[in-house]
Amino acid sequence: MQALLNTAIEAARRAGDLAMRYLKRLDELKVRSKSRNDFVTQVDLEAEQAIIEIIHSRYPQHAIQGEETGIQEGDETVWIIDPLDGTTNFLHGFPMFAVSIGVQVKGRMTVAVVYDPNRQELFTAIRGVGAQLDGRRMRVKNQQRLEGALIGTGFPYRMHEQWMDTYLNQFRAVMQVAADCRRPGCAALDLCYLAAGRLDGFWEFGLQPWDIAAGSLILREAGGLISSMTDDGDYMETGNIIAGTPKVHPELEKLLRPLLGPTMA
Ligand code: IPD
Ligand code: CA
Ligand code: CA
Repeated sequence: MQALLNTAIEAARRAGDLAMRYLKRLDELKVRSKSRNDFVTQVDLEAEQAIIEIIHSRYPQHAIQGEETGIQEGDETVWIIDPLDGTTNFLHGFPMFAVSIGVQVKGRMTVAVVYDPNRQELFTAIRGVGAQLDGRRMRVKNQQRLEGALIGTGFPYRMHEQWMDTYLNQFRAVMQVAADCRRPGCAALDLCYLAAGRLDGFWEFGLQPWDIAAGSLILREAGGLISSMTDDGDYMETGNIIAGTPKVHPELEKLLRPLLGPTMA
């Protein structure tokens, strides 16, 4: 597993360095709109290409699921890649974006890397071995209650606007109990910040597998919990997630689930 992790780290650093080079000349960047308010830049594309090149130079038989290039068939090891998580932040020069690479082996998330090139912070995990920040063991905070907790979230924007009313009710409910909320705009880092004890809980609708593949393993290996907003769903499939420290997570579930509309529950 260490060899897979080393390859993922090398690829994530390569992609992160590339993003930082482009950050200095944002006005020259080629940007295309995938749909309304959903942008893809040449950084997303070049970074994903660079990551895949490194993976396939070591493991030509492995499968790929990349946000930008889609699925490339292979054996039972699948690399799930978000080459630039937080594109909207990146486009505005708002320094909260990351590279996210998760490796699934025989259907189980096994190795994960999230790299923040602005702070040069490297979050990693191997299933059953633990999570690390820059090589040091990382644990979630010992936050006992939602009261006093700092909660991360993501807004239901772009095509997820159908959840806006539900979301706003949930937001009000959380704000009435928790210390405060943050919307950093980079789901991979949101989960890592929770793993590192910088947040105590998190919820968001409509995430994609590449947003959460790496971050969810890092969080779980740091002792955090993550589940689907809907009781019976697999969070990787529904993309509607609730996460938190072992004590805050059940409190968030209890608060947020009853507020789901009839179609979501
Ligand atoms: C987005 C970010 C953001 C989240 C969005 C994602 P992208 O990823 O993770 O925090 O709210 O739902 O799509 O598009 O910048 O890779
Ligand atoms: Ca993303
Ligand atoms: Ca992305």
